[in-house]
Amino acid sequence: MQIYKVGGAVRDRLLDRTVSDVDWLVVGATVEQMQALGYRPVGADFPVFLHPKTGEEYALARTERKSGRGYGGFTFHASPEVTLEEDLVRRDLTINAMAEDASGQLHDPYHGKADLDNRLLRHVSPAFAEDPLRVLRVARFAARYAPLGFKVADETLALMRQIAASGELQALTAERSWKEIERALMEAEPQVFIEVLRSCAALEELMPELVHGPDTLAALRQAARHQQPLTVRWACLLRGLEPASVKALNQRFKAPRECQELAVLVGEFAEKADHALTLAPEQLLEILQRFDIYRRPQRFEEFIGACEMAALGHGQPSYPQADYLRGAAAAARAVDVKPLVEQGLTGQGLGEALKGERLKALQAYAQR
Ligand code: CTP
Repeated sequence: MQIYKVGGAVRDRLLDRTVSDVDWLVVGATVEQMQALGYRPVGADFPVFLHPKTGEEYALARTERKSGRGYGGFTFHASPEVTLEEDLVRRDLTINAMAEDASGQLHDPYHGKADLDNRLLRHVSPAFAEDPLRVLRVARFAARYAPLGFKVADETLALMRQIAASGELQALTAERSWKEIERALMEAEPQVFIEVLRSCAALEELMPELVHGPDTLAALRQAARHQQPLTVRWACLLRGLEPASVKALNQRFKAPRECQELAVLVGEFAEKADHALTLAPEQLLEILQRFDIYRRPQRFEEFIGACEMAALGHGQPSYPQADYLRGAAAAARAVDVKPLVEQGLTGQGLGEALKGERLKALQAYAQR
């Protein structure tokens, strides 16, 4: 049997990027041989094993054909006769279809190295269309490697357009799609992910709410520049949409609760935050209470971040509202509950008194 290093590890080494996880390809072996060597099978009918010591993934060379719609519809054909070339040809992109043998020699039958040098994301073969998720993967790689000057090859974009038009993207599960979206949002130029999806008409299939929606890509770009977390990036992307659209996008991809929550709150309160400097203390208090800043300080900070990124995206040089809101939150938090308790207040009465004291604190803050 021959063992090759494949996929992202080979690609990222050639790009001088840090390699996170290494995938291995095994040619000329059977399932039984692998098990005899101590490799642990990952799933029942999936020809992937974990190395007994390193825990890295070793996949048997396989050809793949489609037997139905969607991910669950795949059947895998792995056998010792499947060659390196046969395995690589059914991978997504040429830059992901290179292999390195034990002596460090590159095996590159589909010219991935040339495409890497020419900064091209190009599909290997028509087998690309077997997995519609690859449309999202290509857009994600475009977002990741945009700083290096990578572009999607014309013929690949045309194929992505065909896949989008076929309706196959509708068959992707929320979980698989979200995983790609989440990773794409955390890339260096996440707005490129959306731009690529738009340019092959996949955006209409996946996120139709964004097709004629407000332009939120500049905000998203700022969020990446400022290393904002996923929650903020998702909220930036959805800023300015109708509440029903925010809800639809949140639910379609089963976005994590914190992402859903922040997107909804930004939709409801971002405009108020933009006017923070002229808000009445009562209105300021309402926002702080609604955000439960006393127990959820981080969520409020993320809200401020999302508002600030949108402002910077619109070309404002700074967002003084951010520090103003932070100061207001600090003033409200500084109110001490102890004296009120010592007065014998409890329950609703205590709550009301606390609110009154916080309002006084905000009045003083606004007048300072
Ligand atoms: N692959 C594919 N089609 C997919 C998923 C994966 O062809 N839908 C192939 C590619 O050859 C890819 C390899 O499997 O390089 C490993 O996949 P994965 O670990 O998901 O991606 P990486 O290329 O390692 O990229 P990343 O850095 O994003 O993990």
